[in-house]
Amino acid sequence: MVGNVAIDGPAGAGKSTVSKLLADELGYLYVDTGAMYRALTWKVMNQNIAMDDEVEIARAAEFTDIELKYDAQRVLRVFCDGQEVTSEIRQQVVSKNVSKVARIAAVRHHMVRLQRRMADKQPVVMDGRDIGSYVIPHAQHKFFLTASIEERARRRCQQLDEQNIPFIGEEVKKEIEVRDEMDRSREIAPLIKAPDAILLDTSCQTVEEVVDEVLKVIRGE
Ligand code: CDP
Repeated sequence: MVGNVAIDGPAGAGKSTVSKLLADELGYLYVDTGAMYRALTWKVMNQNIAMDDEVEIARAAEFTDIELKYDAQRVLRVFCDGQEVTSEIRQQVVSKNVSKVARIAAVRHHMVRLQRRMADKQPVVMDGRDIGSYVIPHAQHKFFLTASIEERARRRCQQLDEQNIPFIGEEVKKEIEVRDEMDRSREIAPLIKAPDAILLDTSCQTVEEVVDEVLKVIRGE
């Protein structure tokens, strides 16, 4: 038993791919906290709530049920009020708006409560922006994954391509930059490396190399 693992970092640093593989390797639950903020953003957009209407968004958060469930193939599926939104939440329109929703205090309060409950119930690999610094500050292992903006944009385009989601390359890079800036500069639980997190620049590493490195640290090899 190696205890909870927190993985933070900017957009497109490979957190979710690495976290999922780590969770598989350790037999832990993978908690994609970004998917939770994305699911709520999808609902807010679907209900035509204005992105600057913080009161209505906070109200929507309070009455939103978000579930992360593995299917038989161990693919993580995302449900919002019982409806599957796994692929919808990856659309660029959701990416563009998610940081506006995620900066609202009441939204974060609600999500963090759900996330802490999951981490209390079973060992988790949890990825996001504020996991090591705020959500589970006592996690046994903390990592902060990053990579150059060019590499992160390249990876995100490749991912969108594989998922058959339409995109424009230059816009993807811009969207990532704008979102990172909003995530870093927000007042509550911003994107930050916890002082005791291990920084890994993955610009020149494959997913397998990153997973190996993280596992070595976790296992004290
Ligand atoms: O996949 P990608 O790295 O692009 O982002 P994500 O992990 O799906 O997160 C989407 C957005 O949710 C982030 O840009 C943040 O605005 C927000 N988020 C957050 O505020 N706190 C978290 N713990 C996770 C995500």
